[in-house]
Amino acid sequence: MSTYGIKFPGKVFSGDGSLSELTGIVKDHGARNVCVLTDQGIFGCGLLNGPLSYIKEAGVEPFVINDCPREPSAYAVKDYYDRLKAQQADLLVAVGGGSVIDMTKILSVALTNDDLVKDLRAPGAIVNPSVPMVAVPTTSGTGAEATANAIFLYPEEDLKVGIVSEKMIPDCVILDVSLTCGLPAGLTASTGVDALCHAMESYISTLTNPFCKMLALEAIRLICGNIVTVYRDGGNRAAREAMQLGSFYAGLCLTTSSTVAVHALSYPLGGKYHIPHGVSNAILLPHVMDLNMDCCREAYTEIAPYMLPDADATDKEKWPEAVVDYLYTLMNVLDIPQSLQEFGVHPEDVDYLTDNAVKVERLLLKNPKKLTRDEIKGVYQKLLK
Ligand SMILES: NC(=O)c1ccc[n+]([C@@H]2O[C@H](COP(=O)([O-])OP(=O)(O)OC[C@H]3O[C@@H](n4cnc5c(N)ncnc54)[C@H](O)[C@@H]3O)[C@@H](O)[C@H]2O)c1
Ligand SMILES: [Fe+2]
Repeated sequence: MSTYGIKFPGKVFSGDGSLSELTGIVKDHGARNVCVLTDQGIFGCGLLNGPLSYIKEAGVEPFVINDCPREPSAYAVKDYYDRLKAQQADLLVAVGGGSVIDMTKILSVALTNDDLVKDLRAPGAIVNPSVPMVAVPTTSGTGAEATANAIFLYPEEDLKVGIVSEKMIPDCVILDVSLTCGLPAGLTASTGVDALCHAMESYISTLTNPFCKMLALEAIRLICGNIVTVYRDGGNRAAREAMQLGSFYAGLCLTTSSTVAVHALSYPLGGKYHIPHGVSNAILLPHVMDLNMDCCREAYTEIAPYMLPDADATDKEKWPEAVVDYLYTLMNVLDIPQSLQEFGVHPEDVDYLTDNAVKVERLLLKNPKKLTRDEIKGVYQKLLK
C-alpha cells in the first residue's frame, strides 16, 4: 500500500425519522421533476407512502417507477432510460435494496451520457456529471448507497459485471430504520452477511488501508453484534439501526478497498444459477476465509475482538481459528444453505464454476493469498457434496 483515498456520498442523513429530510432535499435541489424508483415487492409493502408524502410536502408531484427488476440485467436499463428521459427527471430517488439502487445509479449517469445506454461497459462513456440522486436503502446489505459500483447481469455470458464510476456515488443517502424493519427474515440474514463479507474482505484485501480498517472493524462489531437478533426479531429497531449503519460503513470500505475471493467465487453462482447475491456470498464466506487462513492470521486476530467480544484474551493465538469457527456457526444459526445442490448446481458443474471464477481476476488479484485453480475448485467441491 502506498497512497490511498476514500470517497463519501455528498450528504448522509441517519436516524429514526430521517426520511423526513426528503422534503428539504427536494427543495434544496430546486427539483421540479422528481422520479422515485422502487420494485414491486417494496411497493406492495406500502414502503413508498412515506417517501412520496415527504416529496409532496415540497410542492412536487413525483413520477413513480415501481417495477425495477431484481438483480437487473444490463438489457433492462434501456426501457427505464426511455421512461425517465420522457419525464426530464431532475432528481432521482431510489427506495429499495441493491437492485433498485444500482438501476437508479446507472440511470443517473445514462441520462446525461446518452451513449452509455447502448453499451454499459463502453470505456470512457461516463463523462458528464450525473442527474442528482438520493438513495434510501431498504435492505442492510449491499452498501450500494455508498459505493461507486452498479452490478448488472449479462445473461448471454452467464456473467454479472460491476460498472464503476465515482459519478454514480449518490448525492444524498437517507438511512432511516423504518424502511428496513419489515424485511423478511431470510433476506435479513443473507443481505446482512453480504455486508459482513464487504467488511471482512475489504479488511484483508491487498488494498486495505487505515480508512478501510477503521470502518470495517466498526462494521464487523455492529453486524456481528446484531445480525442474529434481527434475524429472529425483525422488529427490533435498535438492532436494525445497527445493521443499517454497519452495512453503510462496509459499503464505504469498498470505495477505498475492494472485495476479494468470496465475491469472485460468488459471481458465477449469480451469473448462471441466479443465486441471489447475498445468499451465494453467505454460502462461500466461511469456506473462503478458512482457505485464506495462513495469509490472514494477523488480520483475523485484529478482527476477533470486534467479532467475538467475549473471546478469551489469554488464548490469543487461537483467535484466527475462532473467527472462522464463528463464521461456520453463524451460517448455521442463520439457516444459510450448506450445499449448492439446492440451487440446481451439480457436481459436474464444478469445472464450469472454477473456469468462470478464475476469470474474475479483478478481485482475485487483491485476495491476500494467491489461490490456485485447484484451491478454488476445492471450495466448490466442498459445497457440492
Ligand atoms: N452496487 C453495489 O455496490 C452492490 C454491492 C453488492 C451487491 N449489489 C447488487 O445488489 C443486488 C442485491 O441487492 P439486495 O441484496 O439489497 O436485494 P434486492 O434489492 O435484490 O431485494 C431483494 C428482495 O427484497 C425485497 N425487499 C427489499 N427491501 C425490503 C423491505 N424493506 N421489506 C420487504 N421486502 C423488501 C425486494 O422487493 C426484493 O424482492 C444484486 O443485484 C447485487 O449484485 C450491488
Ligand atoms: Fe456484495
